[in-house]
Amino acid sequence: MANIKDVAEKAGVSITTVSHVINETRYVSDDLKARVYGAMEALNYRPNTLARSLRSGRTRTIGLVIPDISNLFFAEISRKIEDKGFEYGYSVILCNTDDDREKEKRYIDVLLEKQVDGIIFISAGAAKENIFKPMDVDIPIVVADRDIPSLTSDIVLIDNHKGGYDATRYLISLNHKRIACIAGPSLATPSALRVEGYKRALEDAGIPIDEALIHQGDFRYESGETCMRELLKNPDPPTAVFVCNDMMALGAIRAIQVSGKRIPEHISLVGFDNIPLSRTVYPALTTMAQPIGEMAKMAVDLLIERIQIKQHLKRNHDTEPVYKRVVLKAQLIERESCAVLTNN
Ligand code: RIB
Repeated sequence: MANIKDVAEKAGVSITTVSHVINETRYVSDDLKARVYGAMEALNYRPNTLARSLRSGRTRTIGLVIPDISNLFFAEISRKIEDKGFEYGYSVILCNTDDDREKEKRYIDVLLEKQVDGIIFISAGAAKENIFKPMDVDIPIVVADRDIPSLTSDIVLIDNHKGGYDATRYLISLNHKRIACIAGPSLATPSALRVEGYKRALEDAGIPIDEALIHQGDFRYESGETCMRELLKNPDPPTAVFVCNDMMALGAIRAIQVSGKRIPEHISLVGFDNIPLSRTVYPALTTMAQPIGEMAKMAVDLLIERIQIKQHLKRNHDTEPVYKRVVLKAQLIERESCAVLTNN
C-alpha cells in the first residue's frame, strides 16, 4: 500500500508539500497540486483521515440533526446545508430523529464520539428543553428553525408569528371571515407562534376566534387530511384555511377534493414552507415561503465561524464573542388556491 513518502517521490516534491496539499494548510501552486494529485491517483493513495484528525484536532465534518427527512422542508434544507458545507470542504453527517427525543439524544452522542467539528441542530417536534449536556457546550452548535431558549448558541430561524399573521391577513383581504387553522405539533415553537399570529390577525380585523376552527395536526400529510375532513363536518364550515405547513396542506387539498368541493371556488387554502410540491400540486398552493436557502447558508456560515472562534480560543485565552440570533422573514407566494369570497 502506497504511503505519503511514495507519493512525494513520484510527484517529485517533499513530503511536507504533499501534506500541505492534502490538509490545505498552506498555499501550493496549481502545478505542484496537480503533480501531487496525479501521483496519489497513480498510486491509488488515500490519506488516513483518522491520523490527520488526531494531528489537527479537526475532522472537517459537521453533524446535521433534523426531525423528519420524509418532510420535504427538511429534505430541502438538508440538501442546501450539505451543499454549503461541501463548499467549505466539510462532510455532513445527517441524523434523522423521526421526532423521537431518545433517538435525538443518541445521535448527539454518536456525533460527539465521531468528533464532528460542529452541529447544526433542528429539534424534534416536542422539543423546547435543551438536550445537550453541560459537557457538550464545547462543541460549536447552531440551532436552526426551532428555538431552544435554554440553549446558549447561535441561532437562525424565521419570524413565525408574523408568518402566521401575514397568511391570515391575506385571507381576510380576500373577504374571508370563517378562517380555520390546521396547526402543527403544539410544542414545536414554529407552529405555536404561527397560530398566535393567525389569532392576532383575526383579532385585529375584529373577527371572533372560533376554537372549533382550530385543529391540531403533526406536520405530516395524513394529519392535514384528517383535520380537513373534521373541519368539513362543521355545520358552518370555513371558507378558508391557514395550514401551518405545506405537507399538511397537501393532505387538506385531498380531503377537500374527495368531499366534492373545489379549491378555491368553495375553500381557499394557504400553506407554509414553499416546498417544491406546493407549486406542482393542482391547484398550485398559495403559501408562506420560508427562505430555506438563506437559512441553510446562514446556519453553515455561523457554524464555520464558531468552529474557527473555538479553535482560536484554544490557542489564545480571549473572551468568546457573543452568540448571534438571526431572524429571517417568510414571504407570501400567491398561486391558485385562494379566491375572493363573493357571497359573504
Ligand atoms: O414542515 C415542517 C415544519 O417544521 C416547517 O414549517 C419548519 O418550520 C419546521 O419547524
